[in-house]
Amino acid sequence: MHTRLAVNIDHVATLRQARIVSYPDPVAAARIAEEAGATGITVHLRADRRHIQQDDVRRLRPVVRGTLNLEIATSEEMLAIAETLRPTQVSLVPERPDEVTTEGGLDLVARLAEVERAAERLRSAQVAVSLFLDPDPRQIEAIDRLPQGLIGGFEINTDAYTRACDDDRPAQLEKVAASARMGSQCQLRVYAGHGLTSDNVGPISAIPEIEELNIGHWLISRAVTLGLRDAVKEMLAAMDD
Ligand code: PXP
Repeated sequence: MHTRLAVNIDHVATLRQARIVSYPDPVAAARIAEEAGATGITVHLRADRRHIQQDDVRRLRPVVRGTLNLEIATSEEMLAIAETLRPTQVSLVPERPDEVTTEGGLDLVARLAEVERAAERLRSAQVAVSLFLDPDPRQIEAIDRLPQGLIGGFEINTDAYTRACDDDRPAQLEKVAASARMGSQCQLRVYAGHGLTSDNVGPISAIPEIEELNIGHWLISRAVTLGLRDAVKEMLAAMDD
């Protein structure tokens, strides 16, 4: 079975918010990503609205044909938005206002009761719940302390693997693989992501228990480089007109 790709389109919105204009539109990006073979679209609605806006999620809802995965913190504001907009899935992530990107997995061991309350609310709204967790057996085991079936799956944070030096990379890869095996043994859906590029994705997509990867920054960066030639040609043609 092929590993599925969910495209994180946050940084399309980052580019738009840099000028507070209407382009590039994350909804158009979602359409292109799905046409090209992505099986889902991921967006992270942050408290500071630095990229994706609530209205983007509302507009994506009827357009995305695969899974619309909304990453949010467990705050009251975000849970209320998820209950109203009802994406296919919510991934609960930790969030710090001054972080550049999500810095680690949720500390489920420490925040079990809070995560349970959030997941119960989402389940009542018929939204599937996933958790972003570090490849740490203590964190994965903690899912078992939540009511059966409350959590549909979890996303393994691949950040440490992607940053590891050559000597450490096999050990980091094995942590991801071991976490994936644990999840699969508990009948949980297993996803992975963060920091993945075309250079480092191979060993991760080869882990059989991981069914889907969430990839954003590299894809949007690559799209800028690949698309610039056509954009310059389009501008030159418009100037000639
Ligand atoms: N998974 C989670 C939980 C994330 O927060 C992010 C980054 O927004 C990603 C995956 C995608 O990471 P990247 O943009 O490095 O591909």
